[in-house]
Amino acid sequence: MASSTIHILNGPNLDRLGNREPDVYGTVTLADIEAQARAHAAGQGFEVVFRQTSREGELVEWLHEASDSAGVVLNAAAYTHTSIAIRDAISLIESPVVEVHISNVFAREAFRHHSTLSAVAKGVICGFGAQSYLLAIDAIAATASQAGKRT
Ligand code: DQA
Repeated sequence: MASSTIHILNGPNLDRLGNREPDVYGTVTLADIEAQARAHAAGQGFEVVFRQTSREGELVEWLHEASDSAGVVLNAAAYTHTSIAIRDAISLIESPVVEVHISNVFAREAFRHHSTLSAVAKGVICGFGAQSYLLAIDAIAATASQAGKRT
């Protein structure tokens, strides 16, 4: 039976949302995003595992754990732009991984325009603030129902 759990994984500095560069990220906190994501996912019959870490290896291990989930919403934060380890972890898991960003990384510094992860992600959503996470949940729900996988 296919999983109905979505893993939402967050990387470094996202625990500082609310105070962190509010001109870029707004004043929404990670706890706000978690609450919105849980409610949004529940409305579509999904449970959520929601986690944040500032450690690259921990994100890798959490991706392994999410291997048979319904899908992964991944905001790898700055590791997006640097991490081959996280890219390899995405490549080896079965579940669709949606790369998300709160900000529009393409409207920011040039070093944020490149993602080491996008090529192995199912898709990318960025620039919609906290709503990027909700749109990613919708994308996973649509993928799951299209594949007829969920029971
Ligand atoms: C971010 C964008 C990254 O470039 C940055 O390093 C972050 C947050 C976003 O959600 O907009 O930490 O992933």
